[in-house]
Amino acid sequence: MSSVQSDLGFDAPLILQPLSLDWLARSGVEVAVLRLDLLDPELSGNKWFKLVKHLDAARSVAAPGLISLGGPHSNHLHALAAAGRRLGLPTVGLLRGHEQVTPTVADLRGWGMQLHWLGYAGYRERNLPTFWTPWRARYPGFYCIPEGGGGLPGALGCAGLVPRVESALASLGWKDYDALWLAAGTGTTLAGLVIGEAGRHRVFGALAGPPSHAVDAGVANLLAQAGMASSGYELLDASRGGFGRFDRELAQFILDTERQGGVPLDPIYTAKTMMALRLYVERGYFPAGTRLIFVHTGGLQGRRAAQGQLQKLIDG
Ligand SMILES: Cc1ncc(COP(=O)(O)O)c(C=O)c1O
Repeated sequence: MSSVQSDLGFDAPLILQPLSLDWLARSGVEVAVLRLDLLDPELSGNKWFKLVKHLDAARSVAAPGLISLGGPHSNHLHALAAAGRRLGLPTVGLLRGHEQVTPTVADLRGWGMQLHWLGYAGYRERNLPTFWTPWRARYPGFYCIPEGGGGLPGALGCAGLVPRVESALASLGWKDYDALWLAAGTGTTLAGLVIGEAGRHRVFGALAGPPSHAVDAGVANLLAQAGMASSGYELLDASRGGFGRFDRELAQFILDTERQGGVPLDPIYTAKTMMALRLYVERGYFPAGTRLIFVHTGGLQGRRAAQGQLQKLIDG
């Protein structure tokens, strides 16, 4: 059976781009951006890697469709709807909250995803053991993907990034790097990279939400499932007052980084992650000569709905 990865053309070399910004130049720290956002306009960022093993599993049981859940701006549902359409598999999205139209929801509908709005209380039940029962009855045989494409299959899909990063290093003229730096929501992507690294390089996860024991425990749990010790990584708070909260400094940082460094960032994950990196670099955490890889986890489709708010913050 062919793999979903090669069927969808995701075997292409990864892009590593040197980042040139004034605060990096002052510190002597070198950063290259792993441009996963450029992989594909619809299946952008870490989403593809979190989905790939789930999609392989769905194919191996000949599932007639895919079902998952997320919010009205969900990068995960967006990628799932795009993947389903390309693979010719029907998709079902269970959405948090009440019906609304966002740019993401418009794409989901346009790509044929069947949507069900669960309200807030209904969505909170997603972790109950009985949650999936009615959906399995309604969509027999559909493969259920956990929120955000998480779980061990999600992490193992991301582990596959590490050897591909190593193959792309030559394009930078680098022989090695010191650490990976990326956004963490559930920590699934980070856990995958820690698995892939197997202790060779440290992995830093910048938390998009307020620090809580849950992400730490989730990462440790995934590593245990993969038979690995819970080490080789660090989680740090990048949330700037809460998940999805924007402020003027963040809006200005996005603009400056795009103008100066040529890298577009989303306000929820990647911009906060880059701001946290600036803080670490400016405080001298990394000695001059350190080489870091900033993993651009995508999320730019979600920026469409935030654009007005960001502009207002800049305009004052
Ligand atoms: C753009 C982006 N970056 C990072 C993350 C965090 O990924 P994870 O939940 O695997 O930590 C997400 C969430 O899925 C995301 O959409």
